[in-house]
Amino acid sequence: MTDHHQTALSPVPLAGRTLKNRLAVAPMTRVTASDDGNATEMMARYYERFAIGGFGLVITEGIYTDRAHSQGYLNQPGLTDDGQANAWKPVVKGIQRHGAAAFAQLMHAGGISQGNRFRHFNVAPSATQPKGEQMAFYRGEGRYPVPQEISVEQIDEAIDGFASAAVRAVDLSGFDGIEIHGANGYLLDQFLTSYTNSRDDKYGGPIANRIRMTLEVISAVRAAVGSKVPLGVRISQGKVNDFHHKWEGGEKDAEVVFGSLADSGVDYIHVTEFEAWKPAFGSGLSLAQYAKKFAPNTTILANGSLHDAERAEQVLNSGIDLVTLGRGALANPDFPMRYAQSIAQRDFNPSILGPLANIKETELEM
Ligand SMILES: Cc1cc2nc3c(=O)[nH]c(=O)nc-3n(C[C@H](O)[C@H](O)[C@H](O)COP(=O)(O)O)c2cc1C
Repeated sequence: MTDHHQTALSPVPLAGRTLKNRLAVAPMTRVTASDDGNATEMMARYYERFAIGGFGLVITEGIYTDRAHSQGYLNQPGLTDDGQANAWKPVVKGIQRHGAAAFAQLMHAGGISQGNRFRHFNVAPSATQPKGEQMAFYRGEGRYPVPQEISVEQIDEAIDGFASAAVRAVDLSGFDGIEIHGANGYLLDQFLTSYTNSRDDKYGGPIANRIRMTLEVISAVRAAVGSKVPLGVRISQGKVNDFHHKWEGGEKDAEVVFGSLADSGVDYIHVTEFEAWKPAFGSGLSLAQYAKKFAPNTTILANGSLHDAERAEQVLNSGIDLVTLGRGALANPDFPMRYAQSIAQRDFNPSILGPLANIKETELEM
């Protein structure tokens, strides 16, 4: 039997490789790239700390994938040309040098882009004004503009963008794996969500249609990078502009979403909720447990307020394969080492992310 305390620190297989433990850094946008979207030396130092601190896997911030509508934020890094791909090399090497794996999160902001140097209007499944307000810590202000409805041709271009960015990430930057951002209110989640998708073509209507674009992105990325590259997808109910959204079909929606992702060829599903262990629909299983139930042969990563190590252990001991930490990793880039040595974890200090969410020199001293 596994020592209860040690589950988080035990190795885990993922897509034919072995990660040294079950603690991963969650993707976090820090808008610290150059104006033209190149990863910077400061980012390399920032990411390396997590690997030095013992995390087995580091997932990058969301990286934009094309020079059309994918960019969400000014100073967000991209993977749209060889220059941007090469700029990631030192970041990836810094992570790998300490025995951690580096996965690139690929993201299309869709209707909630608030900073795109290529285009001056947004596209989304439907021309509906997004809920909520732009995020000030990413230089946004006021409501999101009304997006244009994305055409089928533009959908194909966006899918190509994900595939090309994935190839650059693996072949040029040297990333060990790819995560497709299907969560948190960005383009793929806008398709999944009924109130931002009123299309009457094959991408709209029942949930089996609303998950279609995510499945097409997965299939295109898989075809482009081949069967050996670890590939995952992130899924949520809540959104950066609508924290409390719930899938209206509850468990039935979970069955369609996770069942179709299980068949899609992804190696892992990364489920994020505000509190990962709570029932997803008021009662019953957590969203991560639904993922495990409907995708039993797929590796499941759970995220959401798991910086209490006891809680993380409980989630892992309930059959979830890895946990990812956002704020817990910002406060403790050395979370796994502290845990192994029973050193108290620091509390997260939100002032790190103000007034802008860019990486601060003071963090790099931690
Ligand atoms: C500053 C910041 C930036 C984030 N950027 C991203 C992102 O680029 N992609 C993503 O999927 N999630 C992003 N998230 C969400 C985190 O991955 C994570 O889901 C969230 O912080 C909740 O996990 P936690 O309770 O461990 O902090 C971000 C969170 C924070 C705090």
